[in-house]
Parts: sequence; C-alpha cells; structure tokens
Amino acid sequence: MRLMPIAIEGFHDPITGTVSYVVHDPATRQAVVIDPVLDYDLTAQRASTASADALLAYLSAHSLNLQWILETHVHADHVSAARYLRAQAGGMIAIGEHIREVQATLGRLHGWPSEDDGFDRLLRDGESFPVGSIEATALLVPGHTPADLAYRIEGAVFIGDTLFMPDGGSARADFPGGDAAALYRSIRRLLALPPETRLFVCHDYPAGREARWETTVAEQLAANIHAHDGVSEAEFVAMRRARDATLAAPRLMKPALQANIRGGG
Ligand SMILES: [Fe+2]
Repeated sequence: MRLMPIAIEGFHDPITGTVSYVVHDPATRQAVVIDPVLDYDLTAQRASTASADALLAYLSAHSLNLQWILETHVHADHVSAARYLRAQAGGMIAIGEHIREVQATLGRLHGWPSEDDGFDRLLRDGESFPVGSIEATALLVPGHTPADLAYRIEGAVFIGDTLFMPDGGSARADFPGGDAAALYRSIRRLLALPPETRLFVCHDYPAGREARWETTVAEQLAANIHAHDGVSEAEFVAMRRARDATLAAPRLMKPALQANIRGGG
C-alpha cells in the first residue's frame, strides 16, 4: 500500500446523469480528469462551461497539474469538455484506439469528416501510462460502443458505460457498433477483478435516492440487477435487446456525437 493513496473526486451532472472524475497523485500533484461534461443548451444550441469550470476550480484549489484528460468512450448523451479543459489547463486527451471504427461508422452515417480529430493519444488494451508516480492502465471493454475503455488506477477502476450502480443495471448496447454479447464479456472481465476493487460508474440516474457512483466488484456480483453472479450471456443478451428496444435516443445525441468523435467541444 502506498503511503499516500490516490485521491478521487466525483462530479455528478444532474442533467445528463454523467459522473466526471478528478483523480490525483498526492505525492506529485499530477491529475487526470475522466469524462468531463460541457453543458449544452439544445434549444439555443449553445455550450456553457459551469460543469467544466467546477473541475478547473477543484484542480486549482488543490494545486494540481492536469496531466491527462481521459474519455472512456464517444459519449452520445453529452458533449465532452475535453478540448475546453486542455485549452484552459493543458494535459493530453486520450481515448481508445478503436475510436477509428467509431469515427468511420459515424462519418459514413452522417457525412462527418474523421480527420483532424482532437486526440493526443489513442490507447490500446492493456496499455499503461503514468499519472505522476502512479501507473494507470487502459482496459478494453467494448459493447456499449466498440471503443470503450475502462481505466484502472491502483485499486480503482473507472468503468465507463458498462455497469451502472447495482440497482441501475447496465449500459445500453444498441448504438451503431454496439453489441450486447460483447458488453456481457466486458462486464465479466471487470467482475473478474479482485472483489474489493473499487468501481466508479460513468452515469447514475437516481430514482428515489441520492446520486451515487462508487461500488465494488463484490457488490456488483451480489446485487447488479442485470449482471449479478449467475446471469448467463444468453440471459443478459435477451434482457439487453428487449430493454434497448424501449429506449429513446439521447436528447443531445447528434451534437454530442459530432463533437465527441473529435475530442469534444
Ligand atoms: Fe455512453
């Protein structure tokens, strides 16, 4: 155990349910931001930065240097603030290498160019990178999209859109390139980690409780309503397909995807 464990702060956006994180190494004051949100008014088609500015205020209040801005995937529900944060505070924007497939698919569907994206680093499965004196590792967890990564930083894993909190189940798998069977295997990969592993979700849509975003492998195995221990791949895929057929497209889907395939707004 390190003398100074990593520090983790979550920021829940009640409008999109997204949880953004600032994680830092107290020994070196180096920080990462995971999945930052740019506030976006669809009616006015205007972005604003209150949520991202809260992350910057936290970095400043704790005298942190922003080393990385990490995206778990190309989000369809919110515009990423990655480019804004990089312009304000520096740092390198990273996402999974399979972003190329997402860019190609969405480019074909919508006629969007995929060149000149805003990413500084594309990470492959199992690749490690430094956060101050800490080693972080990217884990490929496709299914929600083909390019999803989870980020393991010491005993914490930021799991993106795979599992939600145990009472929220799992992420949808019906976007272009989504695959319920792949999502099941990604979830099992995460739940094969040591039971005490801390898991931090990307979204929480609380119904009748406060927003929460931290759980553990053991809690998910015991209680996740879609993927607890004992749920088979066939059961999961049937549930996911039936449920996805009832879900509406996210409100901000088009502006979010268009911005996020090139590093956000
Ligand atoms: Fe997502």
